[in-house]
Amino acid sequence: MAPKNQPRPYPGGKGKAYPHVINLMPPHSTYIETHLGAGAVMRNKRPAARNIGIEIDPMVIDRWTKCEDHGFELIQGDAAEILPALDITQDTLVYCDPPYVPDTRRRARVYRHDYDAADHERLLAVLSAIPARIILSGYPSDLYDRLLEGWTVTELTVQTHVGPVKEYLWTNYKPGPVLHDYSFVGIDFREREAVRRRLRTVCTKLGRAQEVERRAAFDRLASSHPQEFLQAAERIR
Ligand SMILES: C[S@@+](CC[C@H](N)C(=O)[O-])C[C@H]1O[C@@H](n2cnc3c(N)ncnc32)[C@H](O)[C@@H]1O
Repeated sequence: MAPKNQPRPYPGGKGKAYPHVINLMPPHSTYIETHLGAGAVMRNKRPAARNIGIEIDPMVIDRWTKCEDHGFELIQGDAAEILPALDITQDTLVYCDPPYVPDTRRRARVYRHDYDAADHERLLAVLSAIPARIILSGYPSDLYDRLLEGWTVTELTVQTHVGPVKEYLWTNYKPGPVLHDYSFVGIDFREREAVRRRLRTVCTKLGRAQEVERRAAFDRLASSHPQEFLQAAERIR
């Protein structure tokens, strides 16, 4: 059950898969999540300077507006109509989790607002025309293969109540190691925990060292990895 005051989980919601989505996100100053539902990704990622959620279902928007302190801008309406009207630049990241293509879903009509093939085509045409970086979730389908030619596909296996299901994340860019949020690095829970432990050990040691030794370590890293150092510093500017 969703914690009190949080939007209820959705069938196909990203309650479990959100770390995989966050691990594909390049740095961005505006974040737009369309087809918001319970917004598992938006609630778990590091916020951008501006954060916008788009959802057609007024009941979903209503649940969000009852949680007063989320700090996101919410827009009620059709994502394909709203996106072209927003001020979108190359520094904008759009994450899109539409209802799945009808023949890829195991149960019929699970949303109050569903999508047919024409809706998917319309959405993908809009996504292909905006200058943003885009992450799009879905199941493997001929329609998406055809319309998203040239996009990068990241495959993941998600555990659901009917067993493991293969899901795709399409990106209109090649995901790399420079991320907006490093909190979930690792391909699964075990690896994420191992990464967290290693980082904690290194950071605790550095934190406890004498200042001059810590500065010496930063200085050495700045010489050996100048680009990474500058990018990390950029985030706190
Ligand atoms: C797959 S669910 C999203 C789940 C979400 N990622 C989460 O973590 O809960 C799809 C959502 O899209 C919404 N939706 C359907 N048609 C829409 C449209 N044309 N524009 C915006 N949202 C739409 C549905 O109401 C539903 O909340």
